Amino acid sequence: MVLQGILNMKETEPKRDLLSIDDFSDELSQLIDWGIRMKNDDGFADGFKPLDGMSIGSIYEKPSTRTRVSFEVGVSKLGGQPLTLLANDIQLGKSESIADTAAVLSRFMDGITYRCFGHSDVQELAEHATVPVINALSDMHHPCQAAADLMTIKEMENSVNGHVSWVGDGNNVLHDLILACASLGIDIKYATPVGFEPDPGVVSRAASIASDRGSSIKSTNDPIEAVSDAGVIYTDVFVSMGEEGMKGKLEAFGGFQVNENLVSHADSEYLFMHCLPAHRGEEVTDGVIDSENSVVFDQAENRMWAQMSLLTRMCNEAAWHTYNELY
Ligand code: CP
Ligand code: NVA
Repeated sequence: MVLQGILNMKETEPKRDLLSIDDFSDELSQLIDWGIRMKNDDGFADGFKPLDGMSIGSIYEKPSTRTRVSFEVGVSKLGGQPLTLLANDIQLGKSESIADTAAVLSRFMDGITYRCFGHSDVQELAEHATVPVINALSDMHHPCQAAADLMTIKEMENSVNGHVSWVGDGNNVLHDLILACASLGIDIKYATPVGFEPDPGVVSRAASIASDRGSSIKSTNDPIEAVSDAGVIYTDVFVSMGEEGMKGKLEAFGGFQVNENLVSHADSEYLFMHCLPAHRGEEVTDGVIDSENSVVFDQAENRMWAQMSLLTRMCNEAAWHTYNELY
């Protein structure tokens, strides 16, 4: 009983938001270790309920399978109540502003996750919410994905020989992958077509973190150069949600498919990664995504464990520290 009381104690420190993964750059390694520990601790699920009595609301303006399910199940496992708010069903975007929505939800919720189009929308929600806000994907960032991806790489680190490579669009998933690799001191080399490079501001933020951690960030327009001797090959869809109207974008990606020929340049034990959903036959062949090297479903599962670690840290920091001392 006393222990549960300690676990439920909420810190009074100012709330922290997760808008991009470098918001937790210094703690990322520990957060990932926590995710791994939670995943492997059989007794944990019964005893540790840091979100007991709390509600976490999740707003979706775009479709989701992994993010929605992993938040709903993860919040429940931590003893909290998940509430999913689909864009069509709420006033946001119709008769209510982001600022008012943030203020109202903060009166009911202990944390808010938000999947939106423009990144400035989640920034605005965070600015006006008095509870922690987690970006559940914007056009610029997908921090929860990066946390799960680096957790997956860390789980398999004994078999990863070589740098992390990316082949594809310079998109939201790549942005947080670069930032997360930099935060953990992991070398990354990405190949994008000319004109589809990642945002220079994000790359420069990551470069500054990488120089502190002693790792490298390299870019090229040649997929073979990126994957040569790589320990990880990562790709994502060439056309992201919200870009469906960008006519002709796909044509720029000739030669960027991750197929059997391309992966033959990587380390023989390379890991194939994809945030999913995948457009099979477009950015990746069935032969690669279904191969023994593929860890895409581990990544999907790890979304839940990584987010459980983040939710505990952000919504009940006292419990996070207590758990650390207990185990
Ligand atoms: N990877 C990912 O975010 O998947 P969903 O779009 O299904 O949530
Ligand atoms: N880049 C993709 C990721 C989906 C999880 C998108 O934004 O649609």
